[in-house]
Amino acid sequence: MSEYISIAETKAIPMDRGLSVKLDGRQFALFRIGGDYYALDGECPHRGGPLGEGLIENGQVYCPMHGWRFDAKTGACVDNPNKPVRCFRTRVVDGFVQIEL
Ligand code: FES
Repeated sequence: MSEYISIAETKAIPMDRGLSVKLDGRQFALFRIGGDYYALDGECPHRGGPLGEGLIENGQVYCPMHGWRFDAKTGACVDNPNKPVRCFRTRVVDGFVQIEL
């Protein structure tokens, strides 16, 4: 059964960059685009770069290590379609972003 877990305050997530958050030993990448929040697996499938530290442009996050681009809303990899990252549902409760695990 899935459940929602609070992962970060909404105000901690910048507009033009992601936010890396570790939860139970696992890395997540959070993004704010417009007024909405998105969550992806935080490790790049290329060589484990921290996607939450990447820059955001036109809804895409650039891996800070070698620049692979991912759709921040879906996890699809623009540069290598066979290497998407997992995307998680989010919701906001009392000023916190929650992700569905
Ligand atoms: S580790 Fe992300 S592009 Fe290489």
